[in-house]
Amino acid sequence: MGAFPTTIHFTGLNTPVRTECAIRDLEVIGTIPPEISGAFFRAVPDPAHPPMFADDIVLSGDGMISRFLIADGYVDYDIRYVRTERYMLEREARRALFGRYRNPFTDDPAVAGRDRTVANTTPVWHAGRLFMTKEDGLAYEIDPVSLETIGRWDYYGALRSETFTAHPRVDPATGEMFFFGYEAGGLCSRDIAYCIADRDGKLVSEQWFEAPYCASVHDFAITETRAVFPIFPTTADLDRLKAGGPHWAHQQELESWIGIMPRYGKTDEMRWFRGPKGVSAFHLVNAFDEGDLVHLDLCLTDTNAFAFMREAGGIHRMPW
Ligand SMILES: [Fe+2]
Repeated sequence: MGAFPTTIHFTGLNTPVRTECAIRDLEVIGTIPPEISGAFFRAVPDPAHPPMFADDIVLSGDGMISRFLIADGYVDYDIRYVRTERYMLEREARRALFGRYRNPFTDDPAVAGRDRTVANTTPVWHAGRLFMTKEDGLAYEIDPVSLETIGRWDYYGALRSETFTAHPRVDPATGEMFFFGYEAGGLCSRDIAYCIADRDGKLVSEQWFEAPYCASVHDFAITETRAVFPIFPTTADLDRLKAGGPHWAHQQELESWIGIMPRYGKTDEMRWFRGPKGVSAFHLVNAFDEGDLVHLDLCLTDTNAFAFMREAGGIHRMPW
């Protein structure tokens, strides 16, 4: 096997570990209070093979799920790769077959049309099932006991969206999960699917709408009565992808938008509010209703926080 690149995406905290293991009884400093009992699941990207391109980024790393199992003052630790279609194809070939981040036009022709997602972003627990998610594909279901991968999750074939956010929202009062997928209708499409799964994990609603442009939509918000979709001007372009370029480029001169609709309403009730140009945010803090007013708390940056997305848009700044 060749070597990993020596860029920041593969060194320091991002150094590939590539180790699946089970450790019984981690060392404990102090005493774990008896009321702390349960499982803490964590997702990490960890590339199993050196990338096809030396300028690949950390977000392309194969997903691993780890679990800290805490009970009676003891902690056991397990970590395993998610057996995505991509991971299994590359494992068989003993090399990377998928090319640049979210650009299938740079893949080995042998994997044309195969699932590119790496399920490396967030573990999601809903209705007794555990999922590993990444926003560019569907979730993969994981057995929470063995950490084995059960398979891609599409609500028994009911979900039409090609993608599933890594940041769904579960209402603790109703047990419902609210989620969305962007580029739902395919690469660079403006389609966003807004979906609800009930407390039993059944898909009860999937409605599509078009965003003002094809943007990176990493997170959204739910209030007691509304769904809130922030659209920031980091955009995808099919011609750029076909030329082998990056999926995302930030557009500093493009307006941002907030879409708000009733959370149990129809997507054609969406109201769009124009925001400042060039701003960005990845994670939202909270949203809540106050009568007709919707409060949305978020940390807004004046450009995209990721250097690789800024630079693709011709924006060059120091990272501080
Ligand atoms: Fe995130």
